[in-house]
Amino acid sequence: MGGAAADCGYASGVKRYHLTTFGCQMNEHDSERMKGMLHALGYEEARARADADLILFNTCSIRETADSRFVAHLGEAKRLKRERPERVVGVGGCWAQSVKEEVFERFPFVDVAFGPGQVHRLAEFLTSDSLSAQGYFEFEGFTGHLPARRERPFQGWLQISVGCNCACSYCIVPSTRGREASRPPQELVEEVHAMAADGVREVTLLGQNVNSYGRDLPAGAPAPGAPAGSRRQKPTFAGLLALLDGVEGIERIRYTSPHPKDMREDVIRAHAELASVCEHIHLPLQSGSSRILKAMRRTYDRERYLDRVALIREHVPDASLSTDIIVGFPGETEEDFEQTLAVVDAVRYDSAFTFIFSPRRGTEAAGIAEGVVAHPVKVARMERLVERVQQHARERAQRFVGRTVEVLVEGTSRTDPDKIRGRTRHNKVVNFDGVAVPGELTHVRVTGASSQTLIGEEMLVGRAVA
Ligand code: 5AD
Ligand code: SF4
Repeated sequence: MGGAAADCGYASGVKRYHLTTFGCQMNEHDSERMKGMLHALGYEEARARADADLILFNTCSIRETADSRFVAHLGEAKRLKRERPERVVGVGGCWAQSVKEEVFERFPFVDVAFGPGQVHRLAEFLTSDSLSAQGYFEFEGFTGHLPARRERPFQGWLQISVGCNCACSYCIVPSTRGREASRPPQELVEEVHAMAADGVREVTLLGQNVNSYGRDLPAGAPAPGAPAGSRRQKPTFAGLLALLDGVEGIERIRYTSPHPKDMREDVIRAHAELASVCEHIHLPLQSGSSRILKAMRRTYDRERYLDRVALIREHVPDASLSTDIIVGFPGETEEDFEQTLAVVDAVRYDSAFTFIFSPRRGTEAAGIAEGVVAHPVKVARMERLVERVQQHARERAQRFVGRTVEVLVEGTSRTDPDKIRGRTRHNKVVNFDGVAVPGELTHVRVTGASSQTLIGEEMLVGRAVA
């Protein structure tokens, strides 16, 4: 039926793709680059998978749930491929990397598979005459320089490094993303200038361990203002924040994720001293028990973590703190778990992502047979943890009530289409009454707060209302 495409509002003769993204912000960023690359190749985005000539998945493997969610989606791709065999099915990202060529044995309808960040390999496949299935799993460092199609034109990602040199015993990422490689600071500054020229106002720096940035780079010129004859120094993460803070048009800088072991005072001070660096720090704890932290190979203990938090509170007293916590790591006893609760009580996080330990193929922790925590115990601990986290988040959020906060507008409220939704520098979502449009920075008087969101009214004084 020739009219079907036109009826759906699609241009005829144009190839269409459908992309589903799982996992972290790094994957979201890769997907934006994938979309930019596909549009450059003349593809358009299909609204539904069934309308697509190219069905893509950008996958995650961090926990078992991530794997199984994706495999369920693959079933639909299989059916669609059977209906129209000329369709191309592509699987990128961490899950693809973790199973490599096995993907073609397990899912013979997949045409192309590629590891994280290897967006250019997808382009290579699509522009080649290859009729056979192809897999691309080399670690190649950063392979960027693709125009991103941003979900919101005023928010951009900046990938400052690829890979991870840590050896956290539970984590699959070092095996899916390879060794850490930082991108040169000058290249990053140029990219952020270009983003600002494109209308980006908020940039989020991405890396598996952002604050070890630069250790793998050669020493460059001495820091500006250093006495003559000073030694050449390696770029640092704090130095990078200062360089990016100088880019005209960028109002907010965020980053994720830092590692507590590398959280130096210069980075913490950057939050107090650099105007665009937001007052929010995500500092993954994982466990509050030094014994479990050791088994996790996190290379810090509970005291060192709390010492970092004290330093943050000293320099940026009002900062929001968020974290990641795993419950039920092998060997975690009730006492260990209570130590995690005690750290949660001591820090009083503004929010936390909580996870049940999930053994990942090839990781050290997956091989620990002793002290495996029974599933119901994991679930019960998780519930207690979530309750505690929410209690602190709710209490902490009250400090904003009565204050006027700067908000970057993102769209309309998810629950009430009459309200505007935005985000504060502290990374709190605010739903408010007002007139501001997406991309605008405005001021909102906060009138109420729950653990997750703030509510308020836009300050319209002095504002020209159309
Ligand atoms: N099981 C449960 N949670 C995990 N994370 C990473 N690997 C695992 C695993 N095997 C969590 C960590 C990390 C976040 C991104 O995911 O808390 O910080
Ligand atoms: Fe998932 Fe980790 Fe890969 Fe991100 S880096 S996609 S969280 S496995």
